[in-house]
Amino acid sequence: ARQFSSSSRRYAAEVKSLGVIGAGQMGLGIALVAAQRAGVTVTLVDTSQAALDKGMGFADKLLAKDVSKSRLTQDQADEARSKLSHTIAMEDLAKVDFVIEAVPEIPQLKFDIFAKLAEICPAHAILATNTSSISITKIAAATTKDPTDTSASSRVVSTHFMNPVPVQKGVEIISGLQTSAETLDTAVAFCKAMGKVTSVSADSPGFLANRILMPYINEAVICLETGVGDRDSIDSIMKNGTNVPMGPLQLADFVGLDTCLAIMKVLHQETGDSKYRPSVLLAKMVDAGWLGKKSGKGFYDY
Ligand code: CAA
Repeated sequence: ARQFSSSSRRYAAEVKSLGVIGAGQMGLGIALVAAQRAGVTVTLVDTSQAALDKGMGFADKLLAKDVSKSRLTQDQADEARSKLSHTIAMEDLAKVDFVIEAVPEIPQLKFDIFAKLAEICPAHAILATNTSSISITKIAAATTKDPTDTSASSRVVSTHFMNPVPVQKGVEIISGLQTSAETLDTAVAFCKAMGKVTSVSADSPGFLANRILMPYINEAVICLETGVGDRDSIDSIMKNGTNVPMGPLQLADFVGLDTCLAIMKVLHQETGDSKYRPSVLLAKMVDAGWLGKKSGKGFYDY
């Protein structure tokens, strides 16, 4: 099997083909930016043909918008589009150099996917996850039944992209206990080739982005639930006072209230620190099915 040579490992040049698992908003964004900016061929995998069709339709729309705004020529858009293919068979990732998994945050689903990737992908391939809250060490451990064999687990890393991927520059890269330095270097280099700005963090609950962002959102919901301020006052002071594009309650709706709650639960359970206690109102809204933008109702109506 081909190995990344040490002289070039800091560069993404040896990554020619990417597999992306999950054709949702994150996976599609990653696939499109990789094809467009890093110039790699991309195989997008999903179990649902309908999700693949929807994702490709969204990619076409984004490329057409970039052409209409003269950010891309038609030729550049066509070239990026020609690099994207899609499939419902994960076995089609048998020749990729790098994989990024972006499926829902269900631990067992991710563990099963990584066990399969370890079997299917070439022995040099980097196996990355876009998880926002699951331990990278646990995901890496799922690649083998023999923990002393790190041939696959040392190639597992997290590339945590921010939403929407085509817009946000930041990506946090997280190493698990098993991740090799070469894997980390290659992941950083590849994300830079995608035009992203990277931060590196430890495998700790919430990593960096959500460790900071989710308690901020949670505190905003607690301010609402305890009557410190109403919705518009809370969002207005943060939006107009700290120059962020959205206030915390609008951002919670954008991220999804179920996702916010799930991440707060991870922070609370894994640290045992009461400062991460999820807001009661946040939990109730999730119980009501008011999940934010995606369900048509959250702190705002859509
Ligand atoms: N995919 C691709 N592009 C998108 C997009 C999407 N899903 N949503 C919006 N955009 C693009 C629009 O097409 C538009 O592009 P143009 O400038 O080319 O027209 C641009 O973004 C601005 O969009 P809009 O004019 O519609 O709206 P806006 O100016 O209000 O911006 C926003 C929308 C980009 C979402 C902006 O409000 C924003 O940046 N919000 C904060 C988002 C944020 O904090 N994300 C991080 C969430 S945390 C996370 O991701 C980590 C986690 O694990 C939970």
